Amino acid sequence: MANGLLIMLPGPTNVPDRVLRAMSKPLIGHRGPEFRELHERIIENARYAFQTEGDVLVLTCSGTGGVACAIENAITPGDKVVVPVFGVFSERIAETARRVGADVVEVPIRWGSAPRAEQVAGALEGAKALCVVYNETSTGATARELAKLCELAKEAEALVIVDAVSILGGDELPVDKWGVDICITGSQKCLACPPGLALLSISEDAWEAIRANPRRPFYFDLVRAREFYEERRETPFTPAIPLFYALDEALKIIREEGLEARIERHRTCARAFYAGLAAFGLEPYPEPEWRSNTVITVRVPSDVDVEALRRAMKEQYGVLVAGGMGKTKGLVIRIGCMGAITAREVLITLSALGASLSSLGHEVEMGEGLEAARRELGLA
Ligand SMILES: Cc1ncc(COP(=O)(O)O)c(C=O)c1O
Repeated sequence: MANGLLIMLPGPTNVPDRVLRAMSKPLIGHRGPEFRELHERIIENARYAFQTEGDVLVLTCSGTGGVACAIENAITPGDKVVVPVFGVFSERIAETARRVGADVVEVPIRWGSAPRAEQVAGALEGAKALCVVYNETSTGATARELAKLCELAKEAEALVIVDAVSILGGDELPVDKWGVDICITGSQKCLACPPGLALLSISEDAWEAIRANPRRPFYFDLVRAREFYEERRETPFTPAIPLFYALDEALKIIREEGLEARIERHRTCARAFYAGLAAFGLEPYPEPEWRSNTVITVRVPSDVDVEALRRAMKEQYGVLVAGGMGKTKGLVIRIGCMGAITAREVLITLSALGASLSSLGHEVEMGEGLEAARRELGLA
C-alpha cells in the first residue's frame, strides 16, 4: 500500500513488501549459475502450487500470452476444440483457437453460471481439446464441475486446457489429480506477485500433441523451453529477471503458508465479502453455486452509477475495484479476493463500498454489513 492505494482489483493485486523488495536486487546474467539456481527453485515451488509432478514452465509474458502459447503449441489447423463460453475470457480462448485454424465448437453457457458436465458431454466426440476457463473473471463464476469435465474429456481422449489465470493459488486445483493437461496462470493474481509472468503446467499427453505440431510458434515454442530447462535450467530467451526474483519470493511465501491454509484463507475472506454484501442489500452477479472465492462480482444498485462508485471508492478511501467487462459492464463492480487477502482488506473494502454508496445517495446498513463480515472472519 506504499502509494496509499489498496489494490482490490481482480489482478493485479496487493503484493507483499518482501516480494516487491526482491525486485530491487542486483541483476544477474541469465546464463550463469545464480540464475540456474533461482530458476530451479521457482520451478520446484511452482510444482507445489500446481500440485503436479509434471513439467512447469515460466514465460515472460502476461496471462494472455500463456493461454495463447498453450493453444498455439497444442492445437493445429482443423483440430476440433470445444469451449464452454460463459464470459469474456472464454470468448477469448475460443478466438485464440480460431486464429490457429481450429474448428471451434462453442458451448454457450448462461453468464453468471458455469458449465455443467452434461452441457459439455455431447460436444466432445472427436475433439482434440476441451478448453475451460476455471474462473471467469468477467462474471465472478467458477467452473465448479471442472474435475468432472476433465473426466469426460479423458473418456473422449481429448486434452484439457485450463485457463486458471485468476484462481490458481486461491482455490482448489489439483492439476495431476484432476487430469488437467495444460494449466495456465499469471503472476499477478492469486500468487501475489507483480504482473509480467505466465506459468504453465504440461502433462505427458499434452507433450505428445505439442511435439507432433510442426507449426509451433518460434518465440513461445514449448519444446524448446523445456529443452532449455531440462538441459541447463535456462530459458531460451532473456527472462524478466526482476520478476523471477519476485516470483521466487511469492512462491516461497505460498510454501511457508501451505497451499491448503492459503485456499482456506481465500474461502473465508470470500464468505465474509458475500455476507457483508448481502447485509448491504447487494446481490452478487453469479448464481450461488458458482460464486468465486477469488473474484467477487456484485451488482451495483440501479440508482448508482458504477463509474461514480469506483471513483468515490478510489478518491475518498484509496480503494481500487474494477468495473464489469462485456455483458457485465455498467452493471457490476468486481473485487479481487486474491493473494495476500486478509480480514483487513475485506473490512476496509466493505467500509469503503458502504460509505461510497451512502455518499452517492444509496444508504446501506453499514454496521450490519461489517458485523456479518466479521462473523465470517471469526472476529465477532
Ligand atoms: C481468466 C483470465 N484469463 C486471462 C487473463 C489475461 O491475463 P493478462 O491480462 O495477464 O494477459 C485474465 C486477466 O484478468 C483472466 O482473468
